[in-house]
Amino acid sequence: MKKARVGILISGRGSNMMALVEAARAPDYPADIVCVVSNRADAAGLDFARANGIEACFINHKAYASREDFETALDNCLRSRRVEIIALAGFMRVLTARFIAGWEGRMLNIHPSLLPAYKGLHTHERALADGAKTHGCTVHHVTADLDAGPVILRAEVPVLTDDTPDTLAARVLKEEHRIYPRALATIAGSLQANTST
Ligand code: GAR
Repeated sequence: MKKARVGILISGRGSNMMALVEAARAPDYPADIVCVVSNRADAAGLDFARANGIEACFINHKAYASREDFETALDNCLRSRRVEIIALAGFMRVLTARFIAGWEGRMLNIHPSLLPAYKGLHTHERALADGAKTHGCTVHHVTADLDAGPVILRAEVPVLTDDTPDTLAARVLKEEHRIYPRALATIAGSLQANTST
């Protein structure tokens, strides 16, 4: 069966990207990670990608006059590598509605909260400040509304009384690494089913 070609966008550490790359090593995984793109040259994840034989691209958003120009370069990079699905993994640039429309149904994101709670940044701090009893992470489709696209998978963790943002983030991150590969497999599998009929 033909595997879906996936491009992963990162801005930093890249631990979710690593989890996807590890999962995609399984012969029966329905997706191939064909490239990792970062908007930051110092993203640690780029080295991991290169060391694992995956093409690593740096596209500096600061080198473009506008958000649209940056996105055109990004789009060209992904399409020239015949990417079919984009997985955002800690990619910290907001994408325009125009770019998102070009990848409708084929762009996923992992977010560190139980959406629709805590869209945006500083999710762990906000959950703790609210005294939330549970927290977690969500893989969702990317739509023009920030962190509001259809949910693919969520995982819940308890919030403990002595949690700090760091201890809570670590508990959530473990779940991120578990559900993102599953969610990507679901979307890649359905893409294959649609293209093979
Ligand atoms: C992850 O916790 C991810 O959920 C979050 O950034 C972290 C990236 O870590 N994403 C967002 O906040 C998106 N708004 P990683 O680079 O180790 O995967």
